[in-house]
Amino acid sequence: MIPAVSFLNSSIGRKAVSAVTGVLLMLFVMGHLAGNLTIFAGRDVINDYAGHLRDLGPLLWVIRFLLLATVILHIYTTVRLARDNRAARPVRYAREDTVQASWASRSMALSGIVLLAFIVYHLLHFTFQVTNPVFAHLTDSKGRPDVYSMMILGFSNYSVAGAYVVAMAFLSLHLTHGASSWSQSTGISNLRLRKALGAAGNALALLLFAGYVSIPVCVYLDILKLW
Ligand code: HEM
Repeated sequence: MIPAVSFLNSSIGRKAVSAVTGVLLMLFVMGHLAGNLTIFAGRDVINDYAGHLRDLGPLLWVIRFLLLATVILHIYTTVRLARDNRAARPVRYAREDTVQASWASRSMALSGIVLLAFIVYHLLHFTFQVTNPVFAHLTDSKGRPDVYSMMILGFSNYSVAGAYVVAMAFLSLHLTHGASSWSQSTGISNLRLRKALGAAGNALALLLFAGYVSIPVCVYLDILKLW
Protein backbone atom coordinates (compact mmCIF):
# COMPACT_ATOMS: atom_id res chain seq x y z
CA MET A 1 0.00 0.00 0.00
CA ILE A 2 1.18 3.59 -0.64
CA PRO A 3 2.76 4.78 2.69
CA ALA A 4 0.54 7.90 2.88
CA VAL A 5 -2.62 5.77 2.50
CA SER A 6 -1.56 3.21 5.12
CA PHE A 7 -0.66 6.12 7.46
CA LEU A 8 -4.18 7.53 6.99
CA ASN A 9 -5.63 4.08 7.65
CA SER A 10 -3.90 3.79 11.02
CA SER A 11 -5.51 5.28 14.12
CA ILE A 12 -2.35 7.19 15.10
CA GLY A 13 -2.01 8.52 11.53
CA ARG A 14 -5.60 9.77 11.48
CA LYS A 15 -5.16 11.45 14.87
CA ALA A 16 -1.98 13.19 13.71
CA VAL A 17 -3.49 14.34 10.39
CA SER A 18 -6.68 15.52 12.10
CA ALA A 19 -4.68 17.53 14.68
CA VAL A 20 -2.21 19.03 12.17
CA THR A 21 -4.94 19.97 9.65
CA GLY A 22 -7.01 21.45 12.51
CA VAL A 23 -4.09 23.66 13.54
CA LEU A 24 -3.45 24.70 9.90
CA LEU A 25 -7.11 25.68 9.44
CA MET A 26 -7.04 27.60 12.71
CA LEU A 27 -3.98 29.50 11.43
CA PHE A 28 -5.83 30.25 8.20
CA VAL A 29 -8.85 31.58 10.14
CA MET A 30 -6.53 33.81 12.21
CA GLY A 31 -4.69 35.11 9.13
CA HIS A 32 -7.94 35.69 7.24
CA LEU A 33 -9.33 37.68 10.16
CA ALA A 34 -6.18 39.83 10.31
CA GLY A 35 -6.60 40.57 6.58
CA ASN A 36 -10.32 41.33 6.97
CA LEU A 37 -9.72 43.68 9.89
CA THR A 38 -7.70 45.97 7.61
CA ILE A 39 -11.15 47.24 6.55
CA PHE A 40 -10.98 49.43 9.68
CA ALA A 41 -7.88 51.11 8.24
CA GLY A 42 -9.92 52.25 5.23
CA ARG A 43 -10.74 51.41 1.64
CA ASP A 44 -7.21 51.94 0.32
CA VAL A 45 -5.58 49.60 2.84
CA ILE A 46 -7.95 46.63 2.41
CA ASN A 47 -8.09 46.98 -1.38
CA ASP A 48 -4.30 47.12 -1.44
CA TYR A 49 -4.10 43.99 0.73
CA ALA A 50 -6.58 42.11 -1.52
CA GLY A 51 -4.63 43.33 -4.59
CA HIS A 52 -1.37 41.93 -3.18
CA LEU A 53 -3.04 38.55 -2.65
CA ARG A 54 -4.28 38.53 -6.25
CA ASP A 55 -0.79 39.52 -7.47
CA LEU A 56 0.46 36.18 -6.15
CA GLY A 57 -1.04 34.74 -9.38
CA PRO A 58 -0.32 30.99 -9.78
CA LEU A 59 1.00 30.82 -6.19
CA LEU A 60 -2.46 31.87 -4.96
CA TRP A 61 -3.92 28.87 -6.79
CA VAL A 62 -1.34 26.58 -5.15
CA ILE A 63 -2.34 28.01 -1.72
CA ARG A 64 -6.05 27.57 -2.56
CA PHE A 65 -5.43 23.97 -3.63
CA LEU A 66 -3.48 23.23 -0.41
CA LEU A 67 -6.25 24.83 1.65
CA LEU A 68 -8.88 22.69 -0.05
CA ALA A 69 -6.76 19.55 0.47
CA THR A 70 -6.39 20.49 4.16
CA VAL A 71 -10.17 20.87 4.56
CA ILE A 72 -10.82 17.51 2.84
CA LEU A 73 -8.19 15.71 4.95
CA HIS A 74 -9.54 17.32 8.13
CA ILE A 75 -13.10 16.17 7.38
CA TYR A 76 -12.01 12.66 6.33
CA THR A 77 -9.82 12.02 9.39
CA THR A 78 -12.19 13.52 11.97
CA VAL A 79 -15.23 11.66 10.62
CA ARG A 80 -13.26 8.36 10.61
CA LEU A 81 -11.99 9.01 14.16
CA ALA A 82 -15.50 9.77 15.43
CA ARG A 83 -16.79 6.56 13.83
CA ASP A 84 -13.94 4.51 15.35
CA ASN A 85 -14.63 6.01 18.79
CA ARG A 86 -18.31 5.18 18.58
CA ALA A 87 -17.57 1.61 17.47
CA ALA A 88 -15.09 1.18 20.34
CA ARG A 89 -17.54 2.40 23.01
CA PRO A 90 -18.74 -0.72 24.90
CA VAL A 91 -21.79 0.69 26.76
CA ARG A 92 -23.49 3.83 25.52
CA TYR A 93 -23.90 6.66 28.05
CA ALA A 94 -22.88 4.45 30.99
CA ARG A 95 -20.83 7.26 32.52
CA GLU A 96 -21.09 11.01 32.88
CA ASP A 97 -17.93 11.72 30.85
CA THR A 98 -19.19 9.49 28.03
CA VAL A 99 -22.35 11.59 27.80
CA GLN A 100 -20.20 14.73 27.69
CA ALA A 101 -17.92 13.27 25.03
CA SER A 102 -20.94 12.28 22.99
CA TRP A 103 -22.41 15.81 23.22
CA ALA A 104 -19.04 17.28 22.19
CA SER A 105 -18.68 15.02 19.17
CA ARG A 106 -22.29 15.65 18.12
CA SER A 107 -21.84 19.39 18.39
CA MET A 108 -18.59 19.06 16.41
CA ALA A 109 -20.47 17.25 13.65
CA LEU A 110 -23.26 19.87 13.62
CA SER A 111 -20.90 22.86 13.73
CA GLY A 112 -18.67 21.21 11.10
CA ILE A 113 -21.63 20.78 8.71
CA VAL A 114 -22.79 24.37 9.31
CA LEU A 115 -19.23 25.62 8.65
CA LEU A 116 -18.99 23.64 5.43
CA ALA A 117 -22.30 25.12 4.24
CA PHE A 118 -21.08 28.57 5.29
CA ILE A 119 -17.81 28.22 3.34
CA VAL A 120 -19.69 27.19 0.18
CA TYR A 121 -22.04 30.17 0.55
CA HIS A 122 -19.17 32.52 1.47
CA LEU A 123 -17.18 31.58 -1.66
CA LEU A 124 -20.28 32.11 -3.84
CA HIS A 125 -20.86 35.45 -2.07
CA PHE A 126 -17.44 37.15 -1.97
CA THR A 127 -14.99 35.10 -4.07
CA PHE A 128 -17.10 33.99 -7.08
CA GLN A 129 -19.74 36.72 -6.51
CA VAL A 130 -22.49 34.47 -7.88
CA THR A 131 -25.06 35.62 -5.33
CA ASN A 132 -24.34 39.32 -6.08
CA PRO A 133 -22.92 39.64 -9.63
CA VAL A 134 -22.79 43.44 -9.16
CA PHE A 135 -19.78 42.96 -6.83
CA ALA A 136 -17.64 42.05 -9.85
CA HIS A 137 -18.09 45.60 -11.25
CA LEU A 138 -17.02 47.45 -8.09
CA THR A 139 -13.71 49.26 -8.58
CA ASP A 140 -12.01 51.96 -6.55
CA SER A 141 -10.42 55.22 -7.79
CA LYS A 142 -7.22 53.29 -8.66
CA GLY A 143 -9.19 50.82 -10.78
CA ARG A 144 -8.69 47.94 -8.31
CA PRO A 145 -11.49 45.53 -7.30
CA ASP A 146 -13.24 47.35 -4.45
CA VAL A 147 -13.30 44.73 -1.67
CA TYR A 148 -14.12 47.49 0.86
CA SER A 149 -17.42 48.41 -0.86
CA MET A 150 -18.17 44.74 -1.52
CA MET A 151 -18.02 43.89 2.18
CA ILE A 152 -20.13 46.90 3.21
CA LEU A 153 -22.76 46.27 0.52
CA GLY A 154 -22.69 42.55 1.38
CA PHE A 155 -23.44 43.20 5.04
CA SER A 156 -26.00 45.93 4.32
CA ASN A 157 -28.34 43.02 3.70
CA TYR A 158 -29.24 42.21 7.31
CA SER A 159 -30.33 38.62 6.70
CA VAL A 160 -26.92 37.96 5.11
CA ALA A 161 -25.14 39.75 7.98
CA GLY A 162 -27.24 37.76 10.51
CA ALA A 163 -26.35 34.49 8.76
CA TYR A 164 -22.63 35.40 9.01
CA VAL A 165 -22.98 36.12 12.75
CA VAL A 166 -24.69 32.74 13.31
CA ALA A 167 -21.99 30.99 11.25
CA MET A 168 -19.26 32.71 13.31
CA ALA A 169 -20.95 31.43 16.51
CA PHE A 170 -20.72 27.89 15.09
CA LEU A 171 -17.08 28.53 14.14
CA SER A 172 -16.40 29.55 17.72
CA LEU A 173 -18.15 26.44 19.09
CA HIS A 174 -16.19 24.23 16.68
CA LEU A 175 -12.87 25.79 17.73
CA THR A 176 -13.70 25.52 21.44
CA HIS A 177 -14.27 21.77 21.24
CA GLY A 178 -11.58 21.32 18.64
CA ALA A 179 -8.94 22.86 20.90
CA SER A 180 -9.73 20.57 23.83
CA SER A 181 -9.93 17.41 21.72
CA TRP A 182 -6.68 18.47 19.99
CA SER A 183 -4.86 18.59 23.33
CA GLN A 184 -6.25 15.13 24.16
CA SER A 185 -5.29 13.55 20.85
CA THR A 186 -1.74 14.89 21.03
CA GLY A 187 -1.47 12.60 24.07
CA ILE A 188 -0.56 15.30 26.60
CA SER A 189 -1.08 13.56 29.94
CA ASN A 190 -0.45 16.59 32.20
CA LEU A 191 -3.96 17.60 33.27
CA ARG A 192 -2.95 21.17 34.13
CA LEU A 193 -1.37 21.69 30.72
CA ARG A 194 -4.44 20.24 29.04
CA LYS A 195 -6.70 22.56 31.02
CA ALA A 196 -4.50 25.53 30.12
CA LEU A 197 -4.61 24.56 26.42
CA GLY A 198 -8.41 24.22 26.66
CA ALA A 199 -8.69 27.68 28.25
CA ALA A 200 -6.39 29.18 25.59
CA GLY A 201 -8.57 27.53 22.90
CA ASN A 202 -11.72 29.04 24.43
CA ALA A 203 -10.15 32.50 24.63
CA LEU A 204 -8.97 32.28 21.02
CA ALA A 205 -12.39 31.09 19.82
CA LEU A 206 -14.01 34.06 21.59
CA LEU A 207 -11.50 36.54 20.16
CA LEU A 208 -12.02 35.19 16.64
CA PHE A 209 -15.79 35.45 17.09
CA ALA A 210 -15.52 39.05 18.31
CA GLY A 211 -13.10 39.97 15.50
CA TYR A 212 -15.15 38.51 12.65
CA VAL A 213 -18.50 39.72 13.99
CA SER A 214 -17.14 43.25 14.50
CA ILE A 215 -17.34 43.81 10.71
CA PRO A 216 -21.08 43.17 10.10
CA VAL A 217 -21.87 44.84 13.46
CA CYS A 218 -19.94 48.00 12.49
CA VAL A 219 -21.71 48.06 9.12
CA TYR A 220 -25.04 47.80 10.98
CA LEU A 221 -24.03 50.64 13.34
CA ASP A 222 -22.90 52.77 10.38
CA ILE A 223 -19.34 52.91 11.74
CA LEU A 224 -18.18 51.27 8.51
CA LYS A 225 -19.88 52.99 5.60
CA LEU A 226 -19.44 53.45 1.86
CA TRP A 227 -18.35 57.10 1.92
C1 HEM B 1 -17.22 38.29 8.82
C2 HEM B 1 -16.56 37.24 8.37
C3 HEM B 1 -15.80 37.18 7.06
C4 HEM B 1 -15.58 38.16 6.12
C5 HEM B 1 -16.00 39.61 6.12
C6 HEM B 1 -14.80 37.54 5.06
C7 HEM B 1 -14.39 38.18 3.90
C8 HEM B 1 -13.86 37.57 2.79
C9 HEM B 1 -13.61 38.21 1.52
C10 HEM B 1 -13.88 39.68 1.23
C11 HEM B 1 -13.13 37.28 0.67
C12 HEM B 1 -12.75 37.49 -0.80
C13 HEM B 1 -11.36 38.01 -0.91
C14 HEM B 1 -11.06 38.43 -2.35
O1 HEM B 1 -11.46 37.72 -3.27
O2 HEM B 1 -10.39 39.44 -2.49
C15 HEM B 1 -13.05 36.03 1.40
C16 HEM B 1 -12.56 34.85 0.90
C17 HEM B 1 -12.50 33.67 1.61
N1 HEM B 1 -12.90 33.45 2.90
FE1 HEM B 1 -13.71 34.84 4.14
N2 HEM B 1 -14.56 36.23 5.37
C18 HEM B 1 -15.16 35.95 6.59
C19 HEM B 1 -15.13 34.77 7.29
C20 HEM B 1 -14.52 33.62 6.83
C21 HEM B 1 -14.39 32.40 7.59
C22 HEM B 1 -14.86 32.22 9.03
C23 HEM B 1 -13.75 31.49 6.80
C24 HEM B 1 -13.35 30.09 7.08
C25 HEM B 1 -13.90 29.30 8.00
C26 HEM B 1 -13.50 32.14 5.53
C27 HEM B 1 -12.90 31.53 4.45
C28 HEM B 1 -12.65 32.14 3.24
C29 HEM B 1 -12.05 31.48 2.10
C30 HEM B 1 -11.61 30.02 2.06
C31 HEM B 1 -11.94 32.43 1.09
C32 HEM B 1 -11.39 32.22 -0.32
C33 HEM B 1 -9.96 32.70 -0.34
C34 HEM B 1 -9.47 32.70 -1.76
O3 HEM B 1 -9.72 33.65 -2.47
O4 HEM B 1 -8.85 31.74 -2.14
N3 HEM B 1 -13.97 33.42 5.59
N4 HEM B 1 -13.50 36.24 2.68
